[in-house]
Amino acid sequence: MKARIGQLMAEVAAAEFSGADEVEEFRVAYLGRKGKMKDLMAAFKEVPGDQKRELGPMLNALKQAVEDKVKAASGETSSSVKASGLDATRPSGGVPLGTHHPLQVVRREIVDIFQNMGFAVAEGPEIEDDWHVFSGLNFPPEHPARDMQDTFFVERNPDVLLRTHTSSVQVREMEKRKPPMRLIMPGRVFRNEAISARAHCMFHQIEGLYIDKDVSFADLKQTLLHFARCFFGPDTKIRLRPSYFPFTEPSAEVDVYWGLKTEVDKRITKGTGWLEILGCGMVDPNVLEANGIDPNVYSGFAFGMGIERISMLRYQIGDLRHFFENDRRFLDQFAGER
Ligand code: PHE
Repeated sequence: MKARIGQLMAEVAAAEFSGADEVEEFRVAYLGRKGKMKDLMAAFKEVPGDQKRELGPMLNALKQAVEDKVKAASGETSSSVKASGLDATRPSGGVPLGTHHPLQVVRREIVDIFQNMGFAVAEGPEIEDDWHVFSGLNFPPEHPARDMQDTFFVERNPDVLLRTHTSSVQVREMEKRKPPMRLIMPGRVFRNEAISARAHCMFHQIEGLYIDKDVSFADLKQTLLHFARCFFGPDTKIRLRPSYFPFTEPSAEVDVYWGLKTEVDKRITKGTGWLEILGCGMVDPNVLEANGIDPNVYSGFAFGMGIERISMLRYQIGDLRHFFENDRRFLDQFAGER
C-alpha cells in the first residue's frame, strides 16, 4: 500500500492539464465516488493498527496534494467567479478617491481671496480662557454671552472654555505682533445651542483683522466689497447695517443682495432680497489699548463670518446638519470641487 501511495503521489505531481475538462476528470478520478482515494481508504480499513499510524498521514498528504493540484489548475476563485457569471478579466473600476468637504472648499476660497489682498493666515486654540474670548475684547463682566447658556465651560471652570468665536485669535495675535498687521483667521467655534437646520453647537468662522495707521471705515467697506465680488461674482451688491459688538465701534452687519427671482429666494431673504453674511466694525480703542496698541496712533477694522452660512448660500443647502453627518450621498456631490 505504501508503494501504491508513493506511485500516486508521483502521478499527481506530474499531472498536466490542457483544459478545465481535464482538471475535472482528474478530480473525479481521485476524489470521486469511485475514485482512487476511495479504493485506498477501503484498503486502509483492512491494514493492521500499527501500520495505520504510518499510512494515515501519507493518505492525508496524497489527498491534500490532489486538492492543491486541482485548486492550482482551475483556481477556486475562478470557478466560483465563473459560476456567478462575472467577467474576472475586466479591468477594475479603480479605488474611489475621497472628496473635499464643502466647508473646506469654501474656507480655502475665502482665505485665498484675502491672502491675495495681503492678509496672512493665523490660527489659535479652540480651548481658551476668559481673557482671549471675552475680557480682552471689551466684553463687560455681566455680558450674556459669557452665560452658561451660550458658552461651554470645561470642567465647570469659568476660566477654561471653548471659544465662542474666532475673535479670540485677534487677541492672541495682538499680543504676539506689532502693527501693521493684516490677518485672516479661520477656525472652529462652539456655542451651547440646540441643533437645528439653522444652528449647531459647533461651527466654523473666518475672522479678519487689519491694524495700521489711518485705517478707516472706507477701507473696511471696500475690502468687504472686493471679497463679496470675488466670492459671489463681479456684480454682487452689499449693504452695511448698523449693529453692535463689544469689540468694534462703530459696528455693522453686511448683507449681500441675493435677489427675489424665485419663491425660494423670497423665503430665505424674508422677502427683502438681502442676506446677512458677516459682522464687522472698527476695532474698539478699548481693545487696542487692552492689548498694548496705542489707539492714538493706530486704528483697525475686524470682521467675522460663518463658513456654514456662506457655504449654504453658495451651494443652496437648506439644512446645516448636512455638513456634519458625513453622508456620502451629500458629500459625493462635491466631487471635483477643490
Ligand atoms: N465675533 C463676532 C461673532 O461671532 C463676529 C465679528 C467679528 C464681529 C469681528 C465684528 C468683528 O458674531
